[in-house]
Amino acid sequence: MRHLSRFLFVVCSLAVVAAVGVAAFFFWPHDLAAVEASASQPHGADLIARGRYLTIAADCEACHTGPGGQPFAGGLAFKLPFGTIYSPNITPDNDTGIGSWSDAEFVRAVRSGVGKHGEDLYPAFPYTSYALLSTDDILAIKAYLGKLKPVSNRSRASDLSFPFNQRWAVRGWKLLFVPWGQFKVDDRKSAEWNNGAYLVEALAHCGECHTPRGLLFQRKQGEALSGGEVDGWKAWNITSDKTSGIGRWSDDAIASYISTGHTDDHGPAAGAMRQAIDLSLSKLPRSDIDAIVSYLRTVPAQPSSYEGAVVSSVVPAAQTSQPWTPSEQGSGGLGEKIFEGACASCHGWDGSGQNNPRAALLGSHAVNDPSGSNLVRVVLQGSSDPEGTATTAMPAFAQAYSDTEIAALANYMIGHFGNQKGQVTPNDVAQAR
Ligand code: HEC
Ligand code: HEC
Ligand code: HEC
Repeated sequence: MRHLSRFLFVVCSLAVVAAVGVAAFFFWPHDLAAVEASASQPHGADLIARGRYLTIAADCEACHTGPGGQPFAGGLAFKLPFGTIYSPNITPDNDTGIGSWSDAEFVRAVRSGVGKHGEDLYPAFPYTSYALLSTDDILAIKAYLGKLKPVSNRSRASDLSFPFNQRWAVRGWKLLFVPWGQFKVDDRKSAEWNNGAYLVEALAHCGECHTPRGLLFQRKQGEALSGGEVDGWKAWNITSDKTSGIGRWSDDAIASYISTGHTDDHGPAAGAMRQAIDLSLSKLPRSDIDAIVSYLRTVPAQPSSYEGAVVSSVVPAAQTSQPWTPSEQGSGGLGEKIFEGACASCHGWDGSGQNNPRAALLGSHAVNDPSGSNLVRVVLQGSSDPEGTATTAMPAFAQAYSDTEIAALANYMIGHFGNQKGQVTPNDVAQAR
């Protein structure tokens, strides 16, 4: 029901956006303003190196690589509530990629979400964050992409129903929700803080996942970084809130989590975060990671926007409870039985991760969330860090268990490791599949 009323609301709101769109038609910068790099832009190999760094920090590869496809050659599907779009090829192929694009066209695409022929692009392409990038940096990215091997791969056309296939309506949305103007350095703050702000807000676009969205898919900037959703996963509150955010995490813990995907006492990173870390954050220099931490520390605390309290375990579970052992005479129910058979060998009854610290679940947000959204998805899809092998990585259990079994398992784990009453239903599991 909530979904239906939400849908109707979106349709009505779309009419409003379309109206703004008509107005925006005349105002949005679709003309090709000439672009030029500043005098401080590096040249030659230095420019390519800078472009490579920026492309990694912006994680262009994650979205522009299809399953099993060549990096940057496009083809990844983005399922929107009203259809599917596919990421385009951004290798320098002349016919199917961006080989023939001018600098001005490229800057306009990344900053304003406009395609080569003036068509409006959907905000699945996070130009709402990239709008803050400097012209120099966008041109450096283009210079680097231009050095890649051209791959011929025509991306599939989007498959959207009317009225959502009317790209021009996106223009109204953009007028309302895309920031105007590039990132501005705050002279009162340190160079490190400014670098962190640029990374978090623009390049690494943390807010695209971690900021809650309104009914029109716009980021609610008043609640920036207080927790969003990607493909059904919760991208937790990363403001300095002490209960539901990361206010009690040490600097080292945040740095370790965002650069390696793991930190003692807060569990591993899975899902979209795992991917952002593998392709992007783990490759950044330590100074960037420190800068991100220093900026995050100053993001005002906000309570989480999720329904129900999702607290990240304040005190590691190991200190609050005895190590968990199977209950006497095996009376623990379905969830416990599955945990014993399929999970305890790697994770340990006490959640310590046995011999693999990356498998430690203590303090993990995933086992502290009564709705179990991430927990269920990890169990269905599995997860693997780059060093993971068949014997150490988290296997996918989608085929192994029914919805009822996974729901029971999730509720058992939330009770044991999170000390809360799990509310996972078999229907939740079916939806997550
Ligand atoms: C979160 C996913 C995501 C990330 C990250 C991302 N893109 Fe995209 N990009 C898309 C999608 C999806 C589209 C297609 C949008 C549409 O069809 O309306 C797109 C479109 C584009 C286009 C238009 C190409 C064309 O043929 O019309 C360019 C250029 C582009 N992206 C460049 C980049 C660059 C450069 C980066 C990194 C700085 C980047 N993208 C990062 C998802 C992403
Ligand atoms: C593509 C989406 C996406 C992007 C971009 C992203 N995150 Fe995440 N992040 C997630 C998801 C999903 C989780 C939950 C992972 C899990 O539960 O295993 C997460 C978890 C986290 C956590 C752990 C919070 C907790 O309470 O356990 C931190 C810290 C974090 N992200 C920081 C960042 C920072 C900083 C950036 C930008 C530099 C960033 N993330 C960019 C999706 C994203
Ligand atoms: C072969 C060893 C192994 C087995 C068996 C295993 N896991 Fe894992 N699990 C891991 C590893 C390693 C990670 C960390 C993965 C990463 O870093 O991406 C992990 C991660 C997780 C997470 C992620 C926590 C978070 O914060 O995102 C959850 C939840 C989880 N496992 C639950 C389970 C459940 C439930 C079972 C049994 C059905 C299970 N695991 C079986 C090794 C295992």
